[in-house]
Amino acid sequence: MVVTSAPGKLILMGEHAVVFGKPAIAMAVDLRLRCSVERAGRYTVNGHPLDRRYHSYIVSAIDQFWKGGGLDIRTIGDLPSGSGLGSSAALTVAFVRAIEELDGKYDEESVARRAFLVELHVQGRASPIDTSASTHGHGILISGEGNDPLWTIELGDRRWDVHHLDVPQMSMVIGYTGIHAPTGPLVAKVKRYYDRTNFAKETIEEIADLTEEGQTRLKTGDVVGLGELMTRNHKLLSILGVSCPELNRLVRASLPYSYGAKLTGSGGGGSMVALTDEPERVCEAIRRHGGTPFLVRTGVEGVRLEK
Ligand code: PMV
Repeated sequence: MVVTSAPGKLILMGEHAVVFGKPAIAMAVDLRLRCSVERAGRYTVNGHPLDRRYHSYIVSAIDQFWKGGGLDIRTIGDLPSGSGLGSSAALTVAFVRAIEELDGKYDEESVARRAFLVELHVQGRASPIDTSASTHGHGILISGEGNDPLWTIELGDRRWDVHHLDVPQMSMVIGYTGIHAPTGPLVAKVKRYYDRTNFAKETIEEIADLTEEGQTRLKTGDVVGLGELMTRNHKLLSILGVSCPELNRLVRASLPYSYGAKLTGSGGGGSMVALTDEPERVCEAIRRHGGTPFLVRTGVEGVRLEK
């Protein structure tokens, strides 16, 4: 039996714009998904027969990368699904890591590439941000400056250079709306808006500019500047139509005790993140406004073998 685990992530800045090849910053967080895989006579997931509808990420990974026959797959974790915290990426990464182990040929870059192809296949459109962050851990910067990327992923005219990013210890509070929001339809909605209007194109460019600036603020440890950029990033995401009243409420509730706050991930529900040095007060504000707070630690390891 092989047991692996992979972390969830939060996107600090640049979600949605990254799908268009723009820069983004993501960090792995200490909420992990564990996956155990054992050869078996047939395919099961948590005791149920493998189902194309319910286990789409695992099915896609098996179709593309596993030739070895039946598997007994079990998953358990702290990551609510559809929460915007990268649960599907963590599942895909942990599972791909496990089958590479069974095949006796693990390689970090290969896991990141394969997991991206699975997300792309299931969602229709995607960037490698979630899968790269979950594979590598720590922080990642996509398409930023600097040489020597961890890996480069190209798709048509889009190209993502994935760089390692040292992540300072920061207090981050995540507020989960409790609304399950699948990524695919939101990504497709932004694409339609982008194709139809110059305004959406300009908004994506503005997010890209803010993210570049955010990278500098992060390097210099300027939390005040970074927080402001995050809050502006949230407004631009709202303009793109991916926020919702519940996310806006949690962002507003957090701001009096935070440097900045924004939705994180694809939006439409899911979660927001606040940069704060008063985490208890932010958690309380989120709870009071109907959300579930998670106090997360950044700077954690990527996918790993547990057993
Ligand atoms: O919904 P999440 O947390 O998996 O975030 C996806 C991030 C997007 O930029 C919206 C999509 C992508 O594939 O990059």
